[in-house]
Amino acid sequence: MCAYILGIESSCDDTSAAVLHDTHVLANVIANQQVHEKFGGVVPELASRAHQQNIIPVIDTALKVANIDKKQLNAVAYTRGPGLLGSLLVGSSFAKSFALTLGIPLIETDHMESHILAHFLRDDEVRPIPTFPFLCLTVSGGHTQIVKVNNYFDMEIIGKTIDDAAGETFDKAAKIMDLPYPGGPLIDKLAKDGDPSKFSFSEPNIPGLDYSFSGLKTSILYFLRDRLREDNTFIQTNKADLCASIQHTIINILMKKLVRASQQTGISQVAIAGGVSANSGLRQAMMAMEQKLGWQVYIPKMSYSTDNAAMIAASGYFKYIEKMFASQELTPYARQSSR
Ligand code: KG4
Ligand code: ZN
Repeated sequence: MCAYILGIESSCDDTSAAVLHDTHVLANVIANQQVHEKFGGVVPELASRAHQQNIIPVIDTALKVANIDKKQLNAVAYTRGPGLLGSLLVGSSFAKSFALTLGIPLIETDHMESHILAHFLRDDEVRPIPTFPFLCLTVSGGHTQIVKVNNYFDMEIIGKTIDDAAGETFDKAAKIMDLPYPGGPLIDKLAKDGDPSKFSFSEPNIPGLDYSFSGLKTSILYFLRDRLREDNTFIQTNKADLCASIQHTIINILMKKLVRASQQTGISQVAIAGGVSANSGLRQAMMAMEQKLGWQVYIPKMSYSTDNAAMIAASGYFKYIEKMFASQELTPYARQSSR
């Protein structure tokens, strides 16, 4: 079915707008918010204010890049949750009024499900597209889940973190080492020059397919506290090895449960999604499983790994086909469980 879908994403600190023609990406514009850097994390009040400033120029740019007029749009899709309520309100209010003004359907999407549906986006780069059912390790700043994806709308969470998320662990480890926010990409970069087996940290022992990262965070904190007592330049002189070892531990934890999930379900089509799927070590670990266990591995393009509106528009497109439209009365949700 031919349709132009506008996607709007504003769940955290990136304001993004995308235009799809079916699942083809015509534009995917992202405005990052630099304002949080000096605070070492996202400040919700500042995030919603920045979204208010960014949203109109970002949508305007997306329409220009896509080279279409707003009157050609068939539907507006937006992130309803999970995320920061003040940020979600900016995107959802704008999406509602825009759809109403244009007289076209409004479509609500879930941020985490949309991360997974980013695998169905098409652009100039040819990438394989998974078939159902497949498993997806969905790893972001606030979530860590193993999802059995039965179809576009039927996604079963078969494992999840009982405390911190993988992205949060990267960010907190970086903060302990005095690295700026967000720490994930920086740890990834520094880890490239380090030895992943130099330091070892405790790994959790959690039953089933669930994860836990709070113990690892404490283990890093105590380890560094003790070493710094003996040598206050310890972090500085071992930065690359520390980053490589921390990254290696996080990836090990993630991959062990993912392998178990594949064995338990008998599914060998395995994908990764969410901000942490941009991590080069995790990408390599997935490729290694293709060789070792015969998995068919699906890794999103970098720009569709971290937050973007193209994935929201993809989710919107599949709902548009099924006429799964949203009412103007829907309110955003901060947590996926309160949906
Ligand atoms: O999906 P995302 O962009 O936003 C949320 O929905 O949370 O994920 C953000 C998370 C942050 O914790 C960030 O540090 C992490 O993804 N991240 C990475 C990398 N790029 C982003 N973590 C490790 N390695 C990376 N290259
Ligand atoms: Zn995200």
